[in-house]
Amino acid sequence: MNILVTGGTGYIGSHTVIELLKLDHNIIIADNFSNSKPGVLNLIREISGKEFKFYQVDILDRENLEKVFINNSIDAVIHFAGLKAVGESVAMPVAYYHNNITSTLVLCDLMNKYDVKNMVFSSSATVYGMNNISPLTEDLPLSTTNPYGSTKMMIEQILQDVYISDNGWSTALLRYFNPIGAHESGKIGEDPNGIPNNLMPYITQVAVGKRDQLSIFGSDYDTHDGTGVRDYIHVVDLARGHVKAVEYIADKTGVEAINLGAGKGYSVLDVVNNFQKANEIKIPYVLTDRRPGDIATCYADAGKAEKLLGWKAEKTLEDMCRDSWRWQSKNPNGYE
Ligand code: NAD
Ligand code: UD1
Repeated sequence: MNILVTGGTGYIGSHTVIELLKLDHNIIIADNFSNSKPGVLNLIREISGKEFKFYQVDILDRENLEKVFINNSIDAVIHFAGLKAVGESVAMPVAYYHNNITSTLVLCDLMNKYDVKNMVFSSSATVYGMNNISPLTEDLPLSTTNPYGSTKMMIEQILQDVYISDNGWSTALLRYFNPIGAHESGKIGEDPNGIPNNLMPYITQVAVGKRDQLSIFGSDYDTHDGTGVRDYIHVVDLARGHVKAVEYIADKTGVEAINLGAGKGYSVLDVVNNFQKANEIKIPYVLTDRRPGDIATCYADAGKAEKLLGWKAEKTLEDMCRDSWRWQSKNPNGYE
């Protein structure tokens, strides 16, 4: 298949492109490097041993994005491009709504014009909000607590409406749980800007000596050890889920929301203990107050992905901890 991957130089996109190239799909990446580095392109070539096309383009820029559609015969789009920091979205809602929603509208408009009607969209477990009880199934009511989450929920609605207007569309709304880990080569991985908000990048930065200690946000949750429980999924498993999804939607029409999670909950202390054991590194930590907006427990019912896509997460928490550390230790300053 000829697959356009928006945001294909980002964390999840780059790992997905490698898995697609392995299966000899033809890849066209469109990214503006707003949250990624040009160096990733050669690393993808190095790891995969394959070639692909790259366009440095802002998805908001209709005129330049149209050139990608004019110059390539595209069968499907995997749409990763978007801004993703929850706290930043609260501070900059207009930028988030504009970048994430307007770009998706521009993309859908061009897809209609060039008769490309297969789309895999990066949604998030954040659309399940604060009130649903895990394991989370795809049919639960959705709600959000911040502009980032709202962009995901609104785009899901937009893609449902696009299908209603034209039943020729085939769309997968992939709701990711907590992606961590890195490619096993240690050459590509997650490279957050500034102080990491998410747990694993914070742990690896403590391990590499960039931060003194981890703050564990809350130790009085109603969980097995009092710390928050999440569904961590290895980014390579997640990438393979995209391969399955883009192949699944190819010969049918409709819109399917599908959880991509491991279906298992691990606490913050489970992650810290696993990281220490897998890598033989001590992670100093302190127990602090809960982080506003966090919930006690969030994990997927991963049954629908297995049933529809024949996909399930295979890598263990130990794999995730080992691979995250390999990436960080080989690249203490990320891609810089
Ligand atoms: P990322 O920031 O590493 O990758 C996103 C990529 O999109 C970046 O390379 C960035 O440069 C590009 N981009 C952003 N806006 C663009 C625009 N207007 N035009 C062109 N390129 C643009 O993020 P990621 O972690 O790889 O996440 C990919 C997608 O998955 C995002 O939509 C994100 O919201 C979603 N998601 C991520 C997580 C997570 O924990 N990482 C969880 C759930 C959902
Ligand atoms: C967060 C986002 C979510 C997004 C996801 C991407 C919030 C409220 N939610 O989810 O929208 O889709 O990232 O992966 O920001 N923790 C610590 N110390 C830290 C960092 C985290 O104890 O320094 C804890 C958290 O309280 C939580 C767990 O680790 O219990 C995971 O946190 P994080 O990696 O930020 O992910 P989520 O909060 O699940």
